[in-house]
Amino acid sequence: MLENLEILQFPDERLRRLSQPVVDFDQELNGLAEKMLEIMYESNGIGLAAPQVNQTIRLIVVDISEDRDSPRVFVNPEIKQPSGRVDSSEGCLSVPEIRTTIKRYESITVEYHDLKGEKHEEPLNDLMSICVQHEIDHLDGILFIDYLSSLKKKMALEKLNRIRKKKVKK
Ligand code: NI
Repeated sequence: MLENLEILQFPDERLRRLSQPVVDFDQELNGLAEKMLEIMYESNGIGLAAPQVNQTIRLIVVDISEDRDSPRVFVNPEIKQPSGRVDSSEGCLSVPEIRTTIKRYESITVEYHDLKGEKHEEPLNDLMSICVQHEIDHLDGILFIDYLSSLKKKMALEKLNRIRKKKVKK
C-alpha cells in the first residue's frame, strides 16, 4: 500500500480531515516516515504531513537544510509557547501553484514524540518554526491559503484555476 503514496492536491476534501494521535510506535510508522521523507525529497519540499499522503495520523517530516541531509520526524507534534509574529512566504506541495505571504509565530516550542515513542521538547525559530507550524496545520485540516483574506484567497484560487487549465491544454 505504501508504494502507491501520492500527494493529495487541493481542493481534495481528504486534506480537510482531522488526523489522529499516533499510539503505536511500530515498524509501520517507521516505514511511513521513511516513505514520506522520500516523497518530500523527490518533490523538493521542505516539509510533508501524513494527511497529504492520505494517512490521517499526526506525523510530519521536515528538512530545511540546503544540502537536504537533515531529515526530522515529529510524531504528535504540539505547539507550546508561541511568540512573536512574522511574515512568512509559503507554498505547499498540495497547492504547488501558489506562493503567498501569511503571518506565523516567530518562535515556538514543539512538544513531540520520536519514532520510538519518546517525548521531547524543542525550541524552534525562523524557517524551522514556520515549517513546523505549516505542517501541524495539515494535521488539523488547515491549509496556508486559509489565512488569506477572502478577496486574496479568491484571487489566488482564480490564478490556480488558470494555471491548471493551461496545464491540461498542454
Ligand atoms: Ni503544506
